[in-house]
Amino acid sequence: MGKEIVLTGITTSGTPHLGNYVGAIRPAIEASNRADTEAFFFLADYHALIKCQDAERVQQSRLEIAATWLACGLDTDKATFYRQSDIPEISELNWLLTCVTAKGLMNRAHAYKAGVDENVASEQDPDFGITMGLFCYPVLMAADILAFNAHKVPVGRDQIQHIEMARDIAGRFNHIYGSEFFVMPEAVVGDSTAILQGLDGRKMSKSYNNTIPLFDTEKKLKKGINKIKTNLLEPGEPKDPNDSTVFEVYQAFATPEQTEEMRQKFADGIAWGEAKKELFELVNGQLGDAREKYLELMANPAQIEEVLQAGAVKARARARDHIKQLREAVGLVNFV
Ligand code: TRP
Repeated sequence: MGKEIVLTGITTSGTPHLGNYVGAIRPAIEASNRADTEAFFFLADYHALIKCQDAERVQQSRLEIAATWLACGLDTDKATFYRQSDIPEISELNWLLTCVTAKGLMNRAHAYKAGVDENVASEQDPDFGITMGLFCYPVLMAADILAFNAHKVPVGRDQIQHIEMARDIAGRFNHIYGSEFFVMPEAVVGDSTAILQGLDGRKMSKSYNNTIPLFDTEKKLKKGINKIKTNLLEPGEPKDPNDSTVFEVYQAFATPEQTEEMRQKFADGIAWGEAKKELFELVNGQLGDAREKYLELMANPAQIEEVLQAGAVKARARARDHIKQLREAVGLVNFV
């Protein structure tokens, strides 16, 4: 049997934060080291344009996210690592899929619906500020996945709907053109600890502006951790670990033994300042080496470029054969 294909992308519209690391990057790198999987990881830079029309920010984010994956130990001999925008086959597939995707399916996509709901709530035209990019976002995502016939797609909970839509679209194409061109992808959602809370207790997300950056200076990491919202319990008063972002982040980096020790300290009434100090030491200890590597890479974009170019060659070789079949299926072939 062939290897299981695992594929995931990160939208390049922000600076990588602890939540990205724990929820996506770390488990993905672990998966890519398994012998029975073949990993495709990419920078979803076309997706970034949907949310962010600041060219400098998009460019900076692409660089930072690429450097992050490499600094965190991604082995690009094992995994295929590339930028979405370097793979024209993805755009090509995007169109083939667009033509079999029901508009009604896209009407139900929650990212688009949230935009409409917001407009309605503020008594705007429902379509105000909504681009076709946002509306068609799930089709592009389906193209990312189906171009490589990925079996497993590790994503955050908020992306499950998009994977379901990718299956829908794949099934539609298979049905219309009468063959199993596409594998049905499955979402893989990590356990609950894989979604970190942010500074304000909501999901850590660049959309909420509540993140702790992954590779900022030590000082900024400390500052970020100190900003995590806590309750007003005094030192000596027992604290509930299950209702604490400090504990939650601690757990995401700790061994089970360390976690249990911290749980006990909470019961014993550890001061919030002390808990945050221990959290900082744990996280900083684990990220220190990677941070150094990250800074090195950021100072040397040519090295990152080279890795990504090589990744694009690998990725395109795979996508090209598949697209060729699809072009034939829909009736786009040379006359002679
Ligand atoms: N939309 C995803 C997000 O914002 C990123 C993404 C784009 C993606 N294409 C993908 C994830 C394909 C998995 C597979 O998180």
